[in-house]
Amino acid sequence: MRRATITGWGKCVPPAVLTNADLETLMDTSDEWITSRSGIKERRITHVENSDMAVVAASHALASAGLTDDDIDTVIVATCTPDRVIPATATFVQEKMGLRNAACYDINAACSGFVYGLHLANSLIATQAAHRVLLIGSEKLSVLIDIEDRSTAVLFGDGAGAVVLEATEGTDGVLASNMGSDGQLARALTAPGLGSEEDVPVDEAGRVYMDGREVFRNAVVQMGSAALAAVTDAGLELEDIDLLIPHQANVRIIDATARRMDLSPEKVFMNIASYGNTSAASIPIALTEALEEGRIDPGDNVVFVAFGGGLTWAAATLAWGERVEPIGRSDAALPPTDSTAVELLTKRQKTRLRGTAE
Ligand code: COA
Repeated sequence: MRRATITGWGKCVPPAVLTNADLETLMDTSDEWITSRSGIKERRITHVENSDMAVVAASHALASAGLTDDDIDTVIVATCTPDRVIPATATFVQEKMGLRNAACYDINAACSGFVYGLHLANSLIATQAAHRVLLIGSEKLSVLIDIEDRSTAVLFGDGAGAVVLEATEGTDGVLASNMGSDGQLARALTAPGLGSEEDVPVDEAGRVYMDGREVFRNAVVQMGSAALAAVTDAGLELEDIDLLIPHQANVRIIDATARRMDLSPEKVFMNIASYGNTSAASIPIALTEALEEGRIDPGDNVVFVAFGGGLTWAAATLAWGERVEPIGRSDAALPPTDSTAVELLTKRQKTRLRGTAE
């Protein structure tokens, strides 16, 4: 049966590091509170645009697959922080990379965006509507961070990850995937004032709001159910799973999901301490690091599961192929910066406050 398999992978994490100690200088918080509630120690703050990070991650993914930009027929960017409302960030990626033969568009399922994109890309490839898809999860969440809201400011970070998906008729590839959402909770995690909605109070515009407890409660339930369904639908047993790569939102949510799946800690990939919650970018960044660290062997069964604003959720089970090493390597990198993460965040806060004062 024709389906999609991952043949290339890559990531881009911006150089400026925002530690919990840095946050202590900006707001009334502590390393102890942040670590115990979320598992986060530091996150990255970008000095460039979302599409610039996407391009670096995508360049590594293309080289890893041994392809050139002309080989790609579809570019999907999963993001909730696009460069602009029009055009899609995917077209800025095309502008910067070439990709002359590709149709380009974005999808927004918040933190579930990458797994939604994987489901979509697999469907396109299975039906021969696409042959080689570049799927990027890329986020510049730092624009939405309000350093006066300590309940959200400590959680989010910037970054990008990308995969190349190609057709396979073998035993590898996406075995099963599912998606879901509950619009009754659409306002539990939201960033108003950046779309076409009118009459948004100026002091509420352009920043993220979250009912943390509601999101937490639902995440624990839906992540577990979605992941279990993806395993069952793939015709596998839980003991067949070699690695779970969950969305990196909160170590307590990840631990609860792993318990529900009866997985031991060594079968769960976590890098949340280094990057915080990078929304749609978190799973492709984690996948790339899992491969770099030798955590995936040929033929392994890998499960992705995510949860996010919407509220949305999604999961997928993949059988990994024979290759766990990149075919080629790219030297793509972001330009250097002298700015610290605190300087970048403070500047963004001033820009937003200026915007709301106008
Ligand atoms: N530093 C110190 N104290 C903080 C704080 C911070 N950064 N943020 C909030 N607090 C305080 C609150 O003001 C509250 O104080 P109070 O009891 O005096 O009112 C206290 O800590 C407890 O707040 P609470 O909301 O009960 O904490 P929690 O245990 O629910 O943890 C989250 C908060 C946000 C970490 C947790 O709800 C969570 O992870 N939710 C899911 C978030 C998520 O993953 N979102 C993305 C989904 S993709």
